[in-house]
Amino acid sequence: MDADYLRDVADLVLRFLHVVAGIAWIGASFYFIRLDLGLAPPKEPKEGVAGEYWGVHGGGFYHSQKYKVAPSKLPEHLHWFKWEAYTTWLSGFALLVVLYWTDPDTRLVDPAVADLSGWQAAAISAAGLVLAWLLYDAACRLLRDDRAVAGFVTALVIASAFAAGELFAARAAYLQVGAMLGTIMAANVFFTIIPAHWELVHAKQEFREPDPAPGLRAKQRSVHNNYLTLPVVFTMLAGHFAFTFGSGQAWLVLLALFALVGAIRHFFNLWHQGRRAWWIPAAVGVGAIALVVALAPEDTPAVARQVTDAEAQAIVSERCTECHVGASAPSGVRLETLNGIRANASLIESQVSSRAMPPGNATGMTDEERDRLVAWAAAAR
Ligand code: HEC
Repeated sequence: MDADYLRDVADLVLRFLHVVAGIAWIGASFYFIRLDLGLAPPKEPKEGVAGEYWGVHGGGFYHSQKYKVAPSKLPEHLHWFKWEAYTTWLSGFALLVVLYWTDPDTRLVDPAVADLSGWQAAAISAAGLVLAWLLYDAACRLLRDDRAVAGFVTALVIASAFAAGELFAARAAYLQVGAMLGTIMAANVFFTIIPAHWELVHAKQEFREPDPAPGLRAKQRSVHNNYLTLPVVFTMLAGHFAFTFGSGQAWLVLLALFALVGAIRHFFNLWHQGRRAWWIPAAVGVGAIALVVALAPEDTPAVARQVTDAEAQAIVSERCTECHVGASAPSGVRLETLNGIRANASLIESQVSSRAMPPGNATGMTDEERDRLVAWAAAAR
């Protein structure tokens, strides 16, 4: 079996696992945040119980109770929530290795962005994941004030978005930022949140008062994870939308989108506390419309009329059909006939103008060919 086929299979299996584990992780995380924010003082006071939450779901009523620190006796079966997070990170990391680090020349590097060799790009990408975690973790430990930490995390996100845009191909830059933030989230679970839960359990087993510090640290990290969720999910989907990552100031677009989706998260967090901050979705709506207008492609330039079908097809045959041919063409985009090219005109316009295609300019497309194909595609769609 050939290597490309095996890579495609690995891509499918890992991607499926990544999405499913991610749904389980985010689902559990959203559920518990909602539970926490919706806790009310118990109607019938019970020793050690700080709050309760009633819900109806799947044909029955549920009554959750949260203990202030811990129940007097540990239950026999205690359910943990960690493998959702670990599986999401491990499968995502494996995808990064299979798709990007083992094929950096086509996926990570764009000579028009930075003059890096494939292995340099892969090494910088790997170092970025580690560095993001180390800086973030140090800030959380050293800065005493929560707002100072939030300020530092914001600065870290801005710096990462800018640096990724200066180093990697457009499509890979967003993914790199998402992978760095996703690594911070999973490492929060592994290095801080789960150890804090062990401290609670051990203290109980040893009949002593638990040390409150790890629990407070875990709470802080879990709030960070909550706000990072939607930005990270956005970066994972953005690869299909060249009008975002392929725009002129892609890193600013990324930050604007992070602000919008982060604000939506905040709206829901307030909602679960019973507060209806309608101004947030209103402001997000206005911001989103402003972004849509700002990213709208310019009108088709005059050259469009001069680019004939035959010319466009000649460019595609020269620069694209090496890969985009036959039943197993990437993303099902078959470009061997004029009809096939026409049917994909709108995707071709965004992928080629953003320089996402050809990947890493593998087929050496000239800027003039790029302009002509984009102009033709814009007119043909
Ligand atoms: C070296 C191989 C290669 C060449 C050459 C190449 N592509 Fe691609 N193309 C790919 C791969 C791989 C994908 C799938 C990308 C992914 O899902 O990350 C893809 C995806 C696409 C997509 C779909 C994007 C989406 O939104 O899913 C379009 C459209 C496209 N290519 C157009 C082109 C055009 C036009 C050219 C020539 C100018 C070209 N490609 C040259 C490998 C190539």
